[in-house]
Amino acid sequence: MSVVGRRVAVRVPATSANLGPGFDTLGLALSMYDELTVTATDRPEVTVAVTGVGAGEVALDETNLVASSALATFAAVRQEAPGMHIEAHNSIPHGRGLGSSGAAVVAGIAAAKGLLEGTVSFTEDLLLGIASELEGHPDNVAPALFGGLTIAWTGADGPRHKKLMPHRGVSPLVFIPESTLSTRRARELQPINVPHADAVFNVSRSALLVAAMLQSPELLFHATEDKLHQSYRSSAMPETADTIALLRAHGYPAVVSGAGPSILVLCDGPGDRLEAARLVQGEAAIPWRAEMLAVDFKGATVVPIP
Ligand code: HSE
Repeated sequence: MSVVGRRVAVRVPATSANLGPGFDTLGLALSMYDELTVTATDRPEVTVAVTGVGAGEVALDETNLVASSALATFAAVRQEAPGMHIEAHNSIPHGRGLGSSGAAVVAGIAAAKGLLEGTVSFTEDLLLGIASELEGHPDNVAPALFGGLTIAWTGADGPRHKKLMPHRGVSPLVFIPESTLSTRRARELQPINVPHADAVFNVSRSALLVAAMLQSPELLFHATEDKLHQSYRSSAMPETADTIALLRAHGYPAVVSGAGPSILVLCDGPGDRLEAARLVQGEAAIPWRAEMLAVDFKGATVVPIP
């Protein structure tokens, strides 16, 4: 069946991966969104218009990450792709560790899913499989797809996830710097081997983190300790490391967001966030944009536009 003429509205949340100890495993969806409309056309080409973040920077043809991800999704389910016109209004900053590339990939997949509604049914595992293949990091794309707190792992049958609903008291605060850092560069700084004791340290903290996120937000400070990635990467983002040290010295559960350089603070109530933001504004060496966000519980949404 032809999808030409169909039009869908897509919304995808920002994400924060790792959450301290849960390297390449845990992720959290946040209430900051890229919003798009995608129209299936009978023209052969893909056209893209962008406002907000990325305007004037990202590709406006089929090489655009949203467009190429939509086209890859049509191919993955063996459906002929239509031409498309994509209008994107983006809020998720690029290159800051807030999942912008994962959000673009998920937006393209969600658009294809919406355009194919009634023709192809997508399981959650299929969506996660396509997204992980395109983006490379299941811990980034799982929360963008499904919302909430996600545990992602890769088994013999591909990437899988478990979605959990965090305690309502968990109150995310994000600090975003002007500077960017590529995930590839951050990953180059990771050692191949780590001490066994450090692995045990992270196993205990990431198990505790799931309990803290679901039931006991007062444990978030202890639960966000990490020895597997943040110290290795700190030379690539010294201001991030310094500001996290400042926040933690004052008792705030601060971690690198994803591969950085943004900072995620998992406050155990909304009230702490203003104090933390004031601390950073007053004492950090560089300016940080503070965003008080909520956990996004829905993940990517796609609805038909009549
Ligand atoms: N877990 C990944 C990393 C996320 O920290 O490298 C990449 O965005």
